[in-house]
Amino acid sequence: MTIIEKAIRAEFPLLNNTDLAYLDNGATVQKPQCVLDAVNTYYTEQNANPMRGLYELSIKATEIYEEARKETASFINAASPEEIVFTRNATESLNLVSYSYAGSVLEEGDEVIVSCAEHHSNMLPWIRAAKNAGAKLLWYDCEPDGSFDTEKLTAMLSGRTKILAITQVSNVLGRENDIRVMSELIHEKGGIIVVDGSQAVPHLKTDVRSLDADFYAFSGHKMYAPMGIGALYAKKELLEKMPPFLYGGEMIESVTKEKITYAEVPHKFEAGTVNAGGAAGLLEAIRFLRRYGMEEIAQRESDLTAVAFEGMRKIPHIRILGADEAAGHHGILAFQVEGVHPHDVAAIMSDHKIAVRAGHHCAQPLHKHLGVMSSTRMSLSFYNTEDEVRYFLEVLSKVRPLMGYPE
Ligand SMILES: Cc1ncc(COP(=O)(O)O)c(C=O)c1O
Repeated sequence: MTIIEKAIRAEFPLLNNTDLAYLDNGATVQKPQCVLDAVNTYYTEQNANPMRGLYELSIKATEIYEEARKETASFINAASPEEIVFTRNATESLNLVSYSYAGSVLEEGDEVIVSCAEHHSNMLPWIRAAKNAGAKLLWYDCEPDGSFDTEKLTAMLSGRTKILAITQVSNVLGRENDIRVMSELIHEKGGIIVVDGSQAVPHLKTDVRSLDADFYAFSGHKMYAPMGIGALYAKKELLEKMPPFLYGGEMIESVTKEKITYAEVPHKFEAGTVNAGGAAGLLEAIRFLRRYGMEEIAQRESDLTAVAFEGMRKIPHIRILGADEAAGHHGILAFQVEGVHPHDVAAIMSDHKIAVRAGHHCAQPLHKHLGVMSSTRMSLSFYNTEDEVRYFLEVLSKVRPLMGYPE
C-alpha cells in the first residue's frame, strides 16, 4: 500500500475494521470519520426541528441545513441554493419530478423517451407517468458497447417529445453519456432532460449548468454522506411552476379553510420534518470531497479502473459489458465468467473476502438488451488500492477452475 493509499484509508473506520476488499462502491460507499463526526455533533450539540423554533438551537439546526443546501448547490454549480431540493435519495428525487412535473405537463399523445440503460429508479417513474397521462413511452436503445448514438436520438425526437430521461454514468457499464449534446437536442424540440447523476457526482466534477440539465438527481450515500439524504437539482423556473409533491407541514406559507398558499421553492417540495442530521453529513461529505479534489479523485479511480480492465482482459472466458477500453468505464466493471452464474462468482469472491455485486443491478432491460440475464459487478472508489484490484484479479482467474473447469 502506498503512503497516499494509507492516508486515504485512515479516514474510513470501516475499512480499518475489516479485512474485506470492498468493491461494491456503486451500491454505496463507506463513510469517512469526519462525516460520522458531523452527524454525531449534529445530534449531540445541534439537534432541534429546523425551520420551526425561534430559539437558538432550532435556528442553529436551520443554519446547518441551509448551509448544506448552499454547499450542495455550489458543488454541482447550480445557479442558486433554491435550485436544490433535499430528498431521501435519487429514487425519491426522480419520483418527485415524475409526479410533480410530468404529472402536470404530460398530455395524451405526448412522448417520453427513456434510455434502455437506466437504473429502474429512472425508468419505472416514467413508465408510470406516461401510462397515467396516456403518453407514449419510447425506448432509446444503446449500441452493443453501451454508447448512445445521438443521431438515433435526433430521429426519435418530435414536437410531442416532452421528456428525455437518461443517466449521466451507467451503474452497470460505467460509461458516461454526452448529456450536453442530448440536452441541446431535446431543448430544440421544446422538451426537457432529466439526468440521473447518482453514479457521476461521487466520481466526476459535476456542472449542471454546463450540462444544461433541467433536473439532476443524486443520492448522498454514494458520495460519502449518510443514507437517507439525497438531492434534486432543478432549474428554478421549473420548480416555481410545479405543484408540490408531498403535502403537509412546512411546505406552506398559509392555510385557511378556503385557501392554501405554498411556501417558496425549494421548501414547497420539502414537506414534513427534514433530515437535518443527514444534511449535516452531506455538508461534511462535500467538504471531504473538495479536500481531495474531484480531479484527483477521478484520476485515482481512472488509474484503478485501467489496472482492473487490463487485468480482466488477460483472463480467459471473461466478457466485460460495455466499452472496449478502460476509459469507457469510470470505476464500474460488470462482467460475465463463461459458464459460471454471477451468484457463484460473487459467492467465490465473498469466500475470498471480496465484496462485489451479482444480479441485474436494478437494470434488467439493459441486461436483456445486451443479451444477458445478469452480471457480476465490481465498482471502485478512490479509497481502493491497487493491491485490492490485483487480489480481485487473482481470485477472478480462479473462479472457473474452482467451478471444475480445466485450468
Ligand atoms: C444510476 C443509479 N440511479 C439511481 C440509483 C438509486 O439510488 P438510491 O437507491 O440511492 O435512490 C442508483 C443506485 O444504485 C444508481 O446506481
